[in-house]
Amino acid sequence: MLSLSEFKEEFKEDIIRILNNRETAKWLLSPPFPYSEKDADDFLSRYKNDENSLNRNFAIVKDGKFIGGIGLKLKSEEYAEVGFYIDELQRNKGYCSDALIKILEYGFEKLNLPVIKAEVFEGNTASERVLSKCGFKFEKESEQAERLGVTYNTKLFKIERTEFSQHKK
Ligand SMILES: CC(C)(COP(=O)(O)OP(=O)(O)OC[C@H]1O[C@@H](n2cnc3c(N)ncnc32)[C@H](O)[C@@H]1OP(=O)(O)O)[C@@H](O)C(=O)NCCC(=O)NCCS
Repeated sequence: MLSLSEFKEEFKEDIIRILNNRETAKWLLSPPFPYSEKDADDFLSRYKNDENSLNRNFAIVKDGKFIGGIGLKLKSEEYAEVGFYIDELQRNKGYCSDALIKILEYGFEKLNLPVIKAEVFEGNTASERVLSKCGFKFEKESEQAERLGVTYNTKLFKIERTEFSQHKK
């Protein structure tokens, strides 16, 4: 069974291993790369999904094992941006799509957000596929971004709360 849980100390080794994979890290804007034990310690010690935080991050757990992360960054009362990653050894089994549906439920039904967006570097086909399976639509080209020495064109996708309730039916 797949679930979203709080990040725990016991996931540390897998967090470091997964985020130290260049093929994963190159598509992500925020985590440091290379990703050290200290980076994981810092993340776990400041990790809190409380009301004062603009970040709501969750561990993706499959049958008790940490396989990835997913989170919302609250940008304003109008919308949040979602980001995610899955262990390279666990890809293409539908896990990210399952996790994304769960965090959309959380964002729309618990946090009452009207819109959730996702920013994707051009060329990230798997990510676009996951977003489209979950009902996101292309919104517009966004600003260029630099990651690990490469400049990417970026695309913005979005889904509205009303579209999500239709998509779930
Ligand atoms: C994007 C990512 C999280 C997807 O995780 P996942 O658990 O494999 O996703 P799912 O299994 O739910 O869906 C993947 C879909 O992409 C498709 N896909 C994967 N690689 C693809 C490729 N190179 N070209 C076309 N489609 C591809 C799969 O076939 C699947 O679609 P399907 O169900 O229609 O067959 C994972 O690839 C990842 O961690 N990438 C690096 C980090 C990243 O890109 N994060 C997002 C930043 S915006």
